[in-house]
Amino acid sequence: MSSVSYVNGSYVDHSEARVSIEDRGYQFADGVYEVFAVINKKIVDYDDHLNRLFRSLKEISLDTPIAKDAYLVHIRNLVRKNYITNGIIYLQVSRGVASRDFKFPINTKPSIVITAKRISMENYYEKFKRGIKVKITEDLRWKRVDIKTLNLLPPVLAKQEAIESGCDEAWMTDANGYITEGSSSNAWILIKNKLITTPTSSSILKGITRTTLIRSLKNKNIQLIEKRFNKKDIKKSSEAFITSATQFVMPVIKIDNDKIGNGRVGKFAQIFRESYMEAIQLK
Ligand code: PDD
Repeated sequence: MSSVSYVNGSYVDHSEARVSIEDRGYQFADGVYEVFAVINKKIVDYDDHLNRLFRSLKEISLDTPIAKDAYLVHIRNLVRKNYITNGIIYLQVSRGVASRDFKFPINTKPSIVITAKRISMENYYEKFKRGIKVKITEDLRWKRVDIKTLNLLPPVLAKQEAIESGCDEAWMTDANGYITEGSSSNAWILIKNKLITTPTSSSILKGITRTTLIRSLKNKNIQLIEKRFNKKDIKKSSEAFITSATQFVMPVIKIDNDKIGNGRVGKFAQIFRESYMEAIQLK
């Protein structure tokens, strides 16, 4: 079935959607993006994602091409036009079309593209039951990965390295051997019933799913420690998982050659998933 995308002011058939080869997103990865999940037709954590988009725009000195309120209109229209109950919305803003030159172009309107695709929650729950495998790779990214930019070559290479070793996700390590985050997710481990995740800084993306999960655990009897962890800590962990807008909470059962716990999805992953799902329904 054909799908509809939004490109610079028009709704177009996805297969006909076009941007110029001179678009700076294409030429320089000069732009930022967001990924929103849709569950039961509801855009999950909408305000938080939109606010992060506006922060990313500001950090790279890029103006929004449309009014802040217009984003929700277009996203909702795509959900409706594509008959999405559960899905993913991808939105990117680039510095627009200009003859290739490193300096910012003058009087160029930023480009905006929004696409939508369906996901199956059944597939998510099946994958959750199996859990995923993680490969540890080197974090080769730049120093401002707190900005959600289009510059994704290092995580693309990290993910591919993971896939080629039979894994599903890469956890990247900094120069001191600490895990920063997943190639497209935040990383968590559980040691002696204490939940550990890397603290936010310019070295990780402050995941919206991460923030919502933390908030949802506030009144539950779970101790959360935001601190760096390394391979040694991973060896001591009884459970591990990732969070992201596309994976929600997804348990990790193996990291490199080490099984996590007994190598099966643990009970806390389920508790965290339920806590997260409950939180996003309430908002
Ligand atoms: N990625 N860290 C990185 C490097 C990410 O790319 C992502 C999300 C996250 C989790 O952030 P959030 O919970 O806000 O989705 C953390 C999206 C899903 C992507 O690029 O497709």
